[in-house]
Amino acid sequence: MQTAPSQLDHSPLAIGGRVMPSRYCLAPLAGYTHLAFRRVVRGLGGLGLATTDLVQATLLLSVRSKSRELIETSPDDVPLSVQIFSGIRADLIAAAKWLEDHGYQGVDINMGCPMAKVNGQGGGARLMCDTGGACQLVGDVVNAVSIPVTVKMRLGWDRENLTAPALSREFEQLGVAAITIHGRTRQQGFQGTVSLDGIRQVVEAVDTIPVIGNGDVRTATDALTMRKQTDCTAVAIGRGALLDPWIFRRIEDRTAGREEQDPTREERIQFLKRHFQMMMQQHGDYSCILFRKFAGWYGLTLGIPDDLEDRLRRFETVDEFDEIVSQIRLRQGERESQLPTALIKVPNGPVERW
Ligand SMILES: Cc1cc2nc3c(=O)[nH]c(=O)nc-3n(C[C@H](O)[C@H](O)[C@H](O)COP(=O)(O)O)c2cc1C
Repeated sequence: MQTAPSQLDHSPLAIGGRVMPSRYCLAPLAGYTHLAFRRVVRGLGGLGLATTDLVQATLLLSVRSKSRELIETSPDDVPLSVQIFSGIRADLIAAAKWLEDHGYQGVDINMGCPMAKVNGQGGGARLMCDTGGACQLVGDVVNAVSIPVTVKMRLGWDRENLTAPALSREFEQLGVAAITIHGRTRQQGFQGTVSLDGIRQVVEAVDTIPVIGNGDVRTATDALTMRKQTDCTAVAIGRGALLDPWIFRRIEDRTAGREEQDPTREERIQFLKRHFQMMMQQHGDYSCILFRKFAGWYGLTLGIPDDLEDRLRRFETVDEFDEIVSQIRLRQGERESQLPTALIKVPNGPVERW
């Protein structure tokens, strides 16, 4: 039963001076939310702000090709924010300035990542334990640039240290343009469920800046429920957008009072094709290797027969890709499609890696 989201505010979302076409955002998922994926999801409709995978500020400044690749964008990849992290103040400031100088329109500071590799350097969620240091760092970045600076964080380090509401209030005073709040603590990793109450406390702590709620949104109903129960201004969706890239279109349908449209099988095949084409535009023939990572995911969502999924994991040329797609079209119905929840790797609790 689809409920009418009548009492929710659907006016455009403003973050600093930027106006977003939708209140539903793509949360960064390192390794997945690359340029090709963002572009193809944007093409389905309903998506507002997208954020790049997190980029290490120091590496960004050192012209590492991998970091530069992560921030590659295109005219149709808007609105976009680049997410940076670092425990080194000077590098974080310099990276934000560098992004502004190169035409990027928004900077997001990562304060929620539970990975040891990030936290060991004082970046990510570790910053939430040092309120004074976090405020100093964030304030310095805000003062260094004129583009909007946002912060993405968790509820706190652990249950005993739920610092997000107090930090959000401080950050607002310092000029931060919006807060994205993942409703779990760092201690929780990805375990348990998201605390809508925790998100609500952040909403109540700030005066006027938008709070973007995040965590466990898998359906349009989940997104609308999060807004209703927390009063958050907007919602960021990560894994839910991988499982169902049409989630933004579904929310758009719902907020416009229409029935949600399920994508047809042909639309799903077109999504696969466009995802690959957009990768080709960025990476050329190397895409034949990069795309293999998605074989299992498409295998399940499209119900691709095992032998074709296997070919998608090993193909070497564009012609071969096209041939596989033709076969996928012809052999539909041989295997049932399903949501590949298990394919999105997350860390178990307080962790060393994703
Ligand atoms: C594979 C993976 C990669 C992620 N990469 C990032 C990242 O680069 N930056 C970040 O702030 N959060 C990252 N996250 C956290 C997500 O943005 C999001 O906060 C979290 O997954 C909860 O939202 P969801 O249930 O909608 O996915 C990542 C999560 C996963 C599972």
